[in-house]
Parts: sequence; C-alpha cells; structure tokens
Amino acid sequence: MRTIRSPTSGIFLTLFFLNLSFVFFTFLKDEQHLHLHHHHHHHHHLVSHVSINSSSANQSLDKHRLKNKRRSSLERIEEGLAAARASIKEAIGSRKYEKSNEKGIFVPKGPIYWNPHAFHQSHTEMMKRLKVWVYREGDPPLVHEGPVNNKYAIEGQFIDEIENGKNSRFKARHPDEAHVFFIPLSVAKVIHYVYKPRRTKYDYEADRLQHLVEDYISIVAQRYPYWNRSNGADHFLLSCHDWGPRISYGNPYLFHKMMRVLCNANTTEGFKPSRDVSIPEVLLPFGKLAPPDLSLPPRRRTILAFFAGGAHGAIRKKLLKQWKDKDDAVQVHEYLPKGQNYTKLMGKSKFCLCPSGHEVASPRVVEAIHAGCVPVILCENYTVPFGDVLDWRRFSMEIRVERIGEIKEILEGVSEKEYLEMYGNVRKVKRHFVMNRPAKPFDLMHMREMNHIIHTSFPMKDVDKNNMVDHECTSDSERVNKKEDESKD
Ligand SMILES: *[C@@H]1O[C@H](CO)[C@@H](O)[C@H](O)[C@H]1NC(C)=O
Ligand SMILES: *[C@@H]1O[C@H](CO)[C@@H](O)[C@H](O)[C@H]1NC(C)=O
Ligand SMILES: *[C@@H]1O[C@H](CO)[C@@H](O)[C@H](O)[C@H]1NC(C)=O
Ligand SMILES: *[C@@H]1O[C@H](CO)[C@@H](O)[C@H](O)[C@H]1NC(C)=O
Ligand SMILES: *[C@@H]1O[C@H](CO)[C@@H](O)[C@H](O)[C@H]1NC(C)=O
Ligand SMILES: *[C@@H]1O[C@H](CO)[C@@H](O)[C@H](O)[C@H]1NC(C)=O
Repeated sequence: MRTIRSPTSGIFLTLFFLNLSFVFFTFLKDEQHLHLHHHHHHHHHLVSHVSINSSSANQSLDKHRLKNKRRSSLERIEEGLAAARASIKEAIGSRKYEKSNEKGIFVPKGPIYWNPHAFHQSHTEMMKRLKVWVYREGDPPLVHEGPVNNKYAIEGQFIDEIENGKNSRFKARHPDEAHVFFIPLSVAKVIHYVYKPRRTKYDYEADRLQHLVEDYISIVAQRYPYWNRSNGADHFLLSCHDWGPRISYGNPYLFHKMMRVLCNANTTEGFKPSRDVSIPEVLLPFGKLAPPDLSLPPRRRTILAFFAGGAHGAIRKKLLKQWKDKDDAVQVHEYLPKGQNYTKLMGKSKFCLCPSGHEVASPRVVEAIHAGCVPVILCENYTVPFGDVLDWRRFSMEIRVERIGEIKEILEGVSEKEYLEMYGNVRKVKRHFVMNRPAKPFDLMHMREMNHIIHTSFPMKDVDKNNMVDHECTSDSERVNKKEDESKD
C-alpha cells in the first residue's frame, strides 16, 4: 500500500509557487551557465564581425544587454520567492497568521489542515506575488478555450479565468515577470475536434494529441527563451480529460520537467507527485458552478452508503458484483431507479462511495463534499488533490479494494461521534472544492499552496498505515450526456 496523500500533490495555482523555489535554483544555475557560454560566443562574434558588419555587432551587444536584463528579472523573481519561503517558515515557527489587508478573508484553522499556518501564509504569498504568463500563440477552439460544463469543465473554466478573468491578479503583463508559464491547450477540446469521426483503431491513438502539444511547445520555445532556459520546468498544462496523462508519452524527454496539472493523478500512469499537481474533477451542470444543494442535516440522513454508476473498470465491477441492489443500508446501483434523484440521494446518505472507474479521478468526491456526504474512496495509485495541505483522513474514509465485501461492517463500525466529526469537516473543507467566477481566495481555483517548503521542512506526519489505501477514483461517464468528449473507454 502506498501512501496516498502524496507528499507533494499541490493545490492549484499556488502549486507553482512554492515548487518554484526549486525550479528557480536550477534556473539560475542554467542561466549562469548559459550566460558564460554566450559570453564566449559573443567574443567570437564581436571579433569576427565587428570589422565586417558593425550592425551585427550592435545586435550582439543588444542581445547581451537583453540577457543581462533577463537575468536580473530572474534574480528579482528569485528574491521574491526567497522572501515568500522565509515568511512561510516564520509562520510555521511562530504559529501566527499574518494579518491580511483584504477584509473578511478566510483564515484556515483546525485539524483538516496539515499545517494551517503554513497554508495560510503560502496562500497570502501567492496572492501577493504569483504571476502566470499565458502564451498567446494559436487560435481557438483547440487553444484558449475549453469545456466549461460537464466533467472536464475545469479545463475551460481555468483557461477562461486566467485569460479573461476580470480580476485575475495572477496574469503576468510580461513574461519576464512570470513565475510560471501556462500552455493554454485543452485536451478535451482536442479530443472533441481532432478525433472525429472515430472509425478505426487509429482514431484512438494519442499521437495526434501529442504532436499538437509538441508543435505548440516548439513554437514557443523558438520564439521565446523561457522554455529552453528551464527545459519546461516552470511551464504547465492543465487537463482533466482521461487522455491528459498521455500528452507526454510520445516524447518523454521533452516533458520530463514540465508540470502537468491533472485530474487523473494515477501514479502508475506516470503521475509524479513531486512534479505534477493533482486537481479535483468537478462535474458542472450546464450553466452552473455547482450541483444543486440538497444536503440534509446528519440526523435526516437515512442511507448509510450510496453509489450509482456504470460498471467501468475493475474496482466498480467488484463493487457492483458484491453490492448491486442488494442492501438497503449500502445502496449500490448501476442505474438509478426511475424517479430517483442522484444529488438528493447523496444529500441523504452519510457516506458516498467513490470507486475508480476507467480512470482514477471521479467527480463523485467533489459531489459528495458538496452534498455533505463523507466520501469513501475506493481507489489505487491515486494522488488525492490538495493532499499536501489537507489531511484527508479527517473528512474522508478509504477502504481497500480487497475489503469491498466488508464495506457495511466498516461503515457501521464508525461511531456516531467519529461520523459527526467527519461530517463537520466535510462542511468545512467544502470551500476548497467550490468553483467561483471570478475565483476567490481559498476556493478551488486558488487552492494550491506551499508544496516544497512545507514538505522539506515538514515531512508528513506518520499516517496510520491501516487506513491508507491508494486513492483511485474514476472519471465517470455514465451521467454525462455528451458522448463526444469521451475517450475510447
Ligand atoms: C550586416 O548585418 C545585417 C544583419 O545581419 C544585414 O541585414 C546587413 O545586410 C549586413 N550588412 C553588410 C554590409 O553585410
Ligand atoms: C550601434 O548602436 C548605437 C547605439 O545603440 C547606434 O548609435 C549606432 O548607430 C549603431 N551602429 C550601427 C552601425 O548600427
Ligand atoms: C530552444 O531550443 C531549441 C532546440 O534546441 C531550438 O531549436 C530553439 O531555437 C531554442 N530557442 C531559442 C529561443 O533559442
Ligand atoms: C498501485 O497499487 C497497487 C495495489 O495497491 C500496488 O501494488 C502498486 O505497487 C501500485 N503501483 C504504483 C506505481 O504505485
Ligand atoms: C434533482 O433535484 C434537483 C432539485 O429539485 C434538480 O435541480 C436536479 O436537476 C435534479 N437532478 C436530476 C438528475 O434530476
Ligand atoms: C492507472 O494506470 C494504470 C497504468 O496505465 C492502469 O493499468 C490502471 O488501470 C489505472 N487506474 C485506473 C483506475 O484507471
């Protein structure tokens, strides 16, 4: 069993922030290296060209000047990051919350956070400093646009927020001030437009997607110095689609440093918690930012455990085989009986089962949290979102796949007191799984703090190994009306 709460999955935007410390060190080294190297070259050019063509020499000088300018912008960025790290460390040591200039801003407290002070400070630093450069190359619909509804909604919502968000304070005005660079390509849109029609086996090969991403990167790497200077380590691409992880399979070298922000944070599929970021899959009903709130208070929750969904993948098959339509307390359905309302049923259940389907991430986890239903995660090799900030044991359960047959006993074994505590924590953690437009502090888009610092200075507590199952939940297709966004599974 590996530990799920992977050390470094990050939280969204901020993720980048602290990871950067790391990136930047490497950067400066590279840059220095480059610089020296170039120096050398310049000499060469100067010597050979001056006599022949002085305008060339002038160009070299300009380049040289530019280089210096760039270097100092990197140094400025590094100084800012060093200050951010220092104040996070200090907040950890002093256990104090820095007063915010912004009124009414939420302050994280309590056991759902591994370290609320670090989280708070990291968020504060992010709000103050983080700048993201969004590459402008390319035209919609494959880039600069993504789905804003259904289960891949986060792709489009994120692109729209960062590019057009009215108060997107994170948008860099110039790439020289950016901490991170965003490649605004939506995998879901590519699958939708490029993989059509789908008739032969070839129509399911990932290479067309891979080439598109590689072409985009090669264009920006030709035009600007940013990709090359870090080998992409400060660049990221965000995808919720099942095929997201595949973007990098065709050319592992090109992508070995780039951050991938993925819903399908399947470690067996190459998700690297130290480099990539796990984000929640959120199924947005058309025109809405959340499912309807049909959540009942604990005493009116009459169902012990609830699941409805298709028999996708091995874990769900196992679950359905053992529990489908067999028990009133543990209600497991492949198809909901007519007249039943999915959201309503979640709102009157104590526990909501979130098994993997074809892929690890499932919108159920977020739906359960919205419905005040304690998520029960039945997964393997899944890095849960925001696991470096949030202590998932406080508001969710994990049951190992081998113990699916014991679900009822295990859940009945949870005392009323323990359940109420988890229920209360689900209510508290909800704000981090809520999507707002424009995004708000500590909401889903803003979650994504600390990472490296916290984890280098604060290794995760020893987690009770018995409770740990690898998280793996799947993206759920059965409730999605639009079939065209689906991958072959
Ligand atoms: C000098 O170099 C510039 C730029 O490389 C070029 O456009 C120009 O024709 C050159 N002039 C001569 C005299 O070679
Ligand atoms: C070189 O640059 C300087 C200042 O930037 C300019 O005054 C000068 O005319 C340039 N020389 C040539 C040959 O382009
Ligand atoms: C970045 O590296 C690639 C591959 O080595 C090269 O083709 C490209 O010209 C470089 N970009 C810049 C801006 O120097
Ligand atoms: C995935 O999960 C299985 C079952 O828990 C485990 O045996 C395996 O080592 C995991 N693989 C990776 C790469 O984490
Ligand atoms: C469930 O009920 C709510 C509230 O009545 C409604 O908004 C929602 O569309 C229903 N969901 C389904 C899947 O019918
Ligand atoms: C995770 O990835 C591995 C390797 O591709 C795959 O075999 C497994 O089915 C995936 N897990 C889920 C739940 O899809």
